[in-house]
Amino acid sequence: MYKIFDTQDEVSRYTAERLAARIEAKPDAVLGLATGGTMEPVYARLVERLQQGPVDASRLTTFNLDEYVGLAPTHTQSYRHFMGQHLFDRLGLPGEKVHLPDGMAEDRDAACRAYSESIRALGGLDLQLLGIGTNGHIGFNEPHTRFSRRTHVTPLSAQTRRDNGRFFRDPSEVPTHAMTLGIRDILEAREIVLVATGAKKARIMAELYHSDPDEALPASALKQHPNVTIVLDREAAALLPG
Ligand code: GLP
Repeated sequence: MYKIFDTQDEVSRYTAERLAARIEAKPDAVLGLATGGTMEPVYARLVERLQQGPVDASRLTTFNLDEYVGLAPTHTQSYRHFMGQHLFDRLGLPGEKVHLPDGMAEDRDAACRAYSESIRALGGLDLQLLGIGTNGHIGFNEPHTRFSRRTHVTPLSAQTRRDNGRFFRDPSEVPTHAMTLGIRDILEAREIVLVATGAKKARIMAELYHSDPDEALPASALKQHPNVTIVLDREAAALLPG
């Protein structure tokens, strides 16, 4: 299902409302969370919404999609830092209830296995929030990642490193690898909300619209899922058929 709004602000408010509704219906929900510029206003609206009450977020558990390999949690561009700044600290979520892949783990394979297993042990994700890369990646599942994969370490494509270079002092500082939830884990979420805003997402959103499930376009895996909402602003929807 597509939801198309005029502005990014309306997209963010709608998405925040979807998350708040899920938390209201199930206060101990397990949420899959995303990072990236698209999510900053979404989390800002969600914090506002939850601070108004009466929804209680204190019993939530969260699992983020991904983390850079080799960035300490205190690094300002680590996704752990991003989440603290934009959501966790502002909601006062307890550290033991929020999870990100451990990009500093010595035994990365074991850390990847444990991450997928801990989601399943809690009964799976009630709702997975997703952004999308300009090359169609979800989480850091880059083009041609097998849809059957669970959490794994992946090299980042040149395009993804270029796109994310804007957040770093120098683009050469963008890590070369990341740890990401796999597409198989993502597809096990009961509900998925993918958000894309701005003109730079228009081309990939049109490709996704026309694509069958195809490992060359990771987000096309979502076509195999029965409960996906794609939330766009006018700019990101500009190349969809009218
Ligand atoms: C990063 C994240 C993705 C995110 C994507 C889009 O690479 N790993 O999870 O969806 O970027 O980011 P933005 O919202 O900044 O365009």
